[in-house]
Amino acid sequence: MGSLLSSSDSVKLNKFYKTVQKDLKRFIGYPANMQMDYSELYKFQKFFLNNIGDPFVVDQYAPYRHQLEKEVLLFFSDLLHAGKDFWGYVTTGGTEGNLYGLYLARETYPQGIVYYSSDAHYSIPKSVRILRMDHRMVASQPHGEIDYAELEQAIRSNRSRAPIILATIGTTMKGGNDQIQQIHVIMKKLEIHEYYIHCDAALNGMVLPFIKGSVPFDFSAGAHSIAISGHKLIGSPIACGVFLGKKSYVDRLSESIEYARTVDNTLVSSRSGLASLILWYAIRLNGIKGYRRIIGECLDNAEYAVKKLQQIGIAAWRNKHSFIVVFPCTSKTVIEKWHLAPQGELVHIVTMPHVTKDLIDDLIKDLKKR
Ligand SMILES: Cc1ncc(COP(=O)(O)O)c(C=O)c1O
Repeated sequence: MGSLLSSSDSVKLNKFYKTVQKDLKRFIGYPANMQMDYSELYKFQKFFLNNIGDPFVVDQYAPYRHQLEKEVLLFFSDLLHAGKDFWGYVTTGGTEGNLYGLYLARETYPQGIVYYSSDAHYSIPKSVRILRMDHRMVASQPHGEIDYAELEQAIRSNRSRAPIILATIGTTMKGGNDQIQQIHVIMKKLEIHEYYIHCDAALNGMVLPFIKGSVPFDFSAGAHSIAISGHKLIGSPIACGVFLGKKSYVDRLSESIEYARTVDNTLVSSRSGLASLILWYAIRLNGIKGYRRIIGECLDNAEYAVKKLQQIGIAAWRNKHSFIVVFPCTSKTVIEKWHLAPQGELVHIVTMPHVTKDLIDDLIKDLKKR
C-alpha cells in the first residue's frame, strides 16, 4: 500500500526510517536487544489494548483483557521463585518498577530509610525525591558493586529506622551486582528484623536466572520486590518492564474502582496491552532453552570483546556473567559513531544479541585508528 500522507510528509517519514535503520546498526553502547522480529504482531496495532487495573482481577465484560499479561507474570514468578505470595504487573519500564517497589517499601515502613549505591541508576535519587523518602547514598566498590562495610556503617547509625535497600542487580555502567545475601548478613549482624529489599534488575533480571552459579537475587534469596526492563534483553520495540512483589504487601494499597470495573493498585491507570503482548510473544518464542542459548552467546561475545580490546592495548574488563565491557576511551568520533555510553574517561559496550563478533571487529578497527 502506498502512503496516505502528503508526498513531502511521506518523503520525511522514509528519510527518518532510513536514518534510524542506519544508525541502529552500530547501536552497541546501550542494552537494547535489536534482534527480535515482532512483525507477526503488526495486526494488533489497530486496536487500543488498554490493560488498566489489576491484572489478576477478572473483568466481567472483557475477561480476555489481562490474559496474556498474567501469563507473562507467571513466567517471571516461576523464573524468580516468587511462590504463592506474589503479585505484579507490566510497567512502562525499569524506572516505573523501581518507583513502585520504593512506594511499596515506604507504605510498609513509613519511617524507613532508603540505601542505594553511588552506582545505582540515575532515576533512583529522583524516585526517592518524588516519594519524599529519607535516603542515604552509599559508596560503591571499583567494579560497581555496593561497598558492604559502608552500607553496614550507614545502617548502624540509623538502626531504629527500618532499612529499605535498593539493590542493583547489574549496575548501568559497570554491570556490578549488589549481593543480597551479604545484605542479609548485615541485617543479622545488626539484629534488624524489619527491612525491605527491592532489586533493580533492569538488565540482569533477565540474564542471571539463566546462568548456573550466578549471584542469587530473587524471592528465594530474600528479595521483597523486583523490577526488570522489557526492552533490554527481551528486546521489546516499545519501552516496558515487569514489576513483581509480595501480594500481602500490595493488598494494603489496593482500592476498588467502580468506573474502571477493577482494582486500582498499579502506579498509572491506562497501561499498554501491546507491551504485554510483545513480552508474551518473546517469551513463548524463545522459552527458557532459547534464552539460555542467547545469553550464552552474549557472554561469549563479551569475552571476545574484552580479549580483542586487550590485544590492541586497551585495558578492557567486565564483571563475571556480564555483557557490559568497560574500557577507557576519549575519542569523540568513536563514541559518537558507536553510541558508546561515557562516564568520565570510561565507556562501555553491551554485547546484546545483535552485537556480533563482526561488529566488535569493526569497532576494534576504528579504535586502532585513534
Ligand atoms: C540499573 C538500571 N536500572 C534502571 C534502569 C531504567 O530502566 P528503564 O529504561 O527500563 O526505565 C536502567 C536503564 O538503563 C538501568 O540500567
